[in-house]
Amino acid sequence: MTPAAMPSLSTRELSIRFGGHVAVDQVSADFYPGTLTVIVGPNGAGKTTYFNLISGQLPASSGTVLLDGADITRHGAARRTALGIGRAFQLTNLFPHLTVAENVRLAVQSRAGAGMNMRSMLTRWSSHTDLIVRADYYLERVSMASRRDTRVMALSHGDKRKLEVAILLALEPAVMMFDEPTAGMSVDEVPVVLDLIHQVKAERNRTILLVEHKMDVVRSLADRIIVLHNGSLVADGNPAEVMASPIVQQAYLGTPEHA
Ligand SMILES: Nc1ncnc2c1ncn2[C@@H]1O[C@H](COP(=O)(O)OP(=O)(O)OP(=O)(O)O)[C@@H](O)[C@H]1O
Ligand SMILES: [Mg+2]
Repeated sequence: MTPAAMPSLSTRELSIRFGGHVAVDQVSADFYPGTLTVIVGPNGAGKTTYFNLISGQLPASSGTVLLDGADITRHGAARRTALGIGRAFQLTNLFPHLTVAENVRLAVQSRAGAGMNMRSMLTRWSSHTDLIVRADYYLERVSMASRRDTRVMALSHGDKRKLEVAILLALEPAVMMFDEPTAGMSVDEVPVVLDLIHQVKAERNRTILLVEHKMDVVRSLADRIIVLHNGSLVADGNPAEVMASPIVQQAYLGTPEHA
């Protein structure tokens, strides 16, 4: 066992039923700091629903979610965010009438933890160089410094998703969850986001969960792969082993890789 053997995030027999349909079925897994786990599986396998159960967007029907060993299963989404579960790609998290820089500053400020309303925050920020500098730092990391004064409602879809990555970075969560981060992005935007995930993985001791369909992306980023199928966890291990396993070849990829 390595010193990092304590999982930051765990699910225990986590399930959710929609009517008679079990979308996530008794999924147990541990996620470790410094490890990027890719979750794969066919459309409708339950990947996004699993993320919703972890981040608190949906309540579990049964089972447990643990963060640093503490049971957070009954906590709402906002409380989980405050405790360090960060999730990108819910475009609803953006404030469309504020500028790009203001959106990131809100995240930086919420991380700083001051209990002020938005107006007083924005007023104070205008003279608060440190917060502005930090917000600009995150915008530069997603190559959006030139958009800093643009209102979010005027951004392209790809820019909105990059902005969400900047906001996620600014929140500095212990657990970062990305659900198909490059979906809908143009070819020149994809490497920006993938490089960033690479960098975050390399430089911070974060627990990263990534849902991804593109196999080249999976291969380049994964430390570990989990396979969901019909809501169940059907494979979990190092990328080479999981990719080569019969269950992935048949259930996920559909055809044997060496046929
Ligand atoms: N709120 C909901 N109410 C009813 N059924 C739902 C709900 N959310 C998800 N489902 C069902 O749960 C199953 C899993 O859906 P989910 O979106 O988690 O799949 P996924 O693995 O993310 O698929 P994709 O790769 O297409 O994104 C599907 O059958 C879906 O229709
Ligand atoms: Mg999904």
